[in-house]
Amino acid sequence: MSKMPEDFLWGGALAAHQFEGGWNQAGKGPSVVDVMTAGAHGVPREITETIEDDKFYPNHEAIDFYHNYKEDIALFGEMGLKCLRTSIGWSRIFPKGDEAEPNEEGLQFYDNVFDELLKHGIEPVITLSHFEMPLHLAREYGGFRSRKVVDFFAKFSEVCFNRYKNKVKYWMTFNEINNKMDVNNPLFLWTNSGVVVEKGENAKEVMYQTGHHELLASALAVSKGREINPEFEMGAMVSHVPIYPYSSNPEDVMLAEESMRQRYFFPDVQVRGYYPTYALKEFEREGYTIKFEDGDEEILKNGKVDYLGFSYYMSTTVKSDVENNNTGDIVNGGLPNGVENPYIKSSDWGWAIDPTGLRYTLNRLYDRYQIPLFIVENGFGAVDTLEEDGSIHDPQRIEYLTSHIEALEKAVTYDGVDLMGYTPWGIIDIVSFTTGEMKKRYGMIYVDRDNEGNGSMKRSKKASFDWYKHVIQTNGEEL
Ligand code: BG6
Repeated sequence: MSKMPEDFLWGGALAAHQFEGGWNQAGKGPSVVDVMTAGAHGVPREITETIEDDKFYPNHEAIDFYHNYKEDIALFGEMGLKCLRTSIGWSRIFPKGDEAEPNEEGLQFYDNVFDELLKHGIEPVITLSHFEMPLHLAREYGGFRSRKVVDFFAKFSEVCFNRYKNKVKYWMTFNEINNKMDVNNPLFLWTNSGVVVEKGENAKEVMYQTGHHELLASALAVSKGREINPEFEMGAMVSHVPIYPYSSNPEDVMLAEESMRQRYFFPDVQVRGYYPTYALKEFEREGYTIKFEDGDEEILKNGKVDYLGFSYYMSTTVKSDVENNNTGDIVNGGLPNGVENPYIKSSDWGWAIDPTGLRYTLNRLYDRYQIPLFIVENGFGAVDTLEEDGSIHDPQRIEYLTSHIEALEKAVTYDGVDLMGYTPWGIIDIVSFTTGEMKKRYGMIYVDRDNEGNGSMKRSKKASFDWYKHVIQTNGEEL
């Protein structure tokens, strides 16, 4: 197989709320995730009104990168990461979200982190909003239901661009902006947008209005970023779970095609700069009123992204003669016609393991958009065991990642997809987003901490650490 590009960004991915800890340090305000308790596979996380003393909130301390960032970044450097994707905790910079001035101590923290990364030759790849909206904006304004929050986000992003313009080149606006298309699971609208759907409301209509505001916020940030530093690479970030037809029955094929709009709606707007006709038809058909103001079309047109980042963990499948099979299961993606794919095995958390789906995804997205792509999340969440001698063997993770790297290399070297980089998720063990557990581990670095918050926080290298280091050293030639 021919070689990967020399400047290919091999890296790792994280999100502030899942690893930083220090949730109330140095002026940081509570975020929407700080009121989420721990759940488990099949047990949803509870979203509490305020922080309650007798409840456990796993993100508060997470893995305490806040106090260990130098040691952790040294390990990332030793692994040879060329980039680290992480986010800026919005409520560290604007504790309530609507202040006139940012919190200097919060800004300083990210200066320290970015300086440390650059010292180790690691390029920061930054998401502005990865489920970290200040709680105050959610409670007082209804999150992105309110157009005012568009302005607060625009201000937050401008502050970040100005402050870090010489340290950060790669930006993404909203993490998995499209995951809230699954309105059956309240987790997504809450974490993405700070929104709770009230009784009697049409959840889909609320989601589209909220989404419109986020699309404007994203486009405004893209335009502002370019103005502040024309060298910036401004990206969108979506969750991509391809939806396969169960069979060659044309009804299954058409159903899969239509269902894929759930995945494509947000990136269609962010890449093309206008609403797709299938969405306008849906609004008309369903009677949704989505408030557009004068100038919105212009904002969207001017805020088209340079590249598309996406997460890829699994695929899913739909069958036309099955109905209301939606169990509310996260894995099913809220699809009423979702069924198991008989050709694909799943992880212990029910996530389908499908490396070919990654090559398929890269081709579909590249054909559709013709802009560079960036795989900013992929990985295998599993239980790891710390052996008595301190070693951790994780062959399943290595196998998963090997097969996915083979698939992405084929997409680049055989299909000709323009791919900027690959950042496996949770390069160090962190708190799971969907379940709040620690035991669902993705890392190549083990962290001694359990689901209840016990443990020494000691870091240890797993077998996958040296394996991935070698992959990077050989630019993906030797897996
Ligand atoms: C993505 C999110 O949905 O999936 C991450 O962007 C998340 O924040 C990742 O952690 C994996 O999900 P989980 O629930 O296994 O942590």
